[in-house]
Amino acid sequence: MSNKIAVITGGNRGLGKNTVLSLARKNIDCVFTYRSHKDEAQQVVEEVAALGAKAVAIQLDVSDILGFAEFKQTLESTLATQWQTSRFDYLINNAGHGSDSAFADTSEAMFDNLMNVHVKGVFFLTQTLHEMINGWRAYY
Ligand SMILES: NC(=O)c1ccc[n+]([C@@H]2O[C@H](COP(=O)([O-])OP(=O)(O)OC[C@H]3O[C@@H](n4cnc5c(N)ncnc54)[C@H](OP(=O)(O)O)[C@@H]3O)[C@@H](O)[C@H]2O)c1
Repeated sequence: MSNKIAVITGGNRGLGKNTVLSLARKNIDCVFTYRSHKDEAQQVVEEVAALGAKAVAIQLDVSDILGFAEFKQTLESTLATQWQTSRFDYLINNAGHGSDSAFADTSEAMFDNLMNVHVKGVFFLTQTLHEMINGWRAYY
């Protein structure tokens, strides 16, 4: 039986990396994203291979929803070439960051970025990819 496949945002470090490695130990393969740390992403790909699973890293900025259509195309071709499938099993919207500024010092640009990464990006990335998730059913 072929491995399940998870798509995880922000998988090159922190909690996302831990999730990728934890899934690999359960024989679950991953396509994960990184925003800027390609070197860290490559290291995670190698650690997953050493655990006997497979991972592919793709660059994505989750605050830029205009990039989601291209990400979907890249994901589709990655799934086709690496797993001979058009679908995956789990979507984990992990990418994000805290705010270093105090409440009184938070600018509108900082607020907008937090919302774009943690709310708007999560909503529209899920909307972009949901029909590719195994078991997804429309209830409307
Ligand atoms: N750690 C905690 O205690 C804690 C508590 C509550 C919530 N969280 C949430 O859990 C998630 C992971 O936290 P963490 O501590 O593991 O963070 P982290 O170590 O700082 O890693 C953040 C990850 O998100 C990616 N990322 C950040 N902004 C991005 C963007 N605009 N587009 C795409 N990727 C982006 C980073 O990619 P690059 O490295 O390539 O930039 C990195 O892979 C975050 O959403 C965070 O807000 C964490």
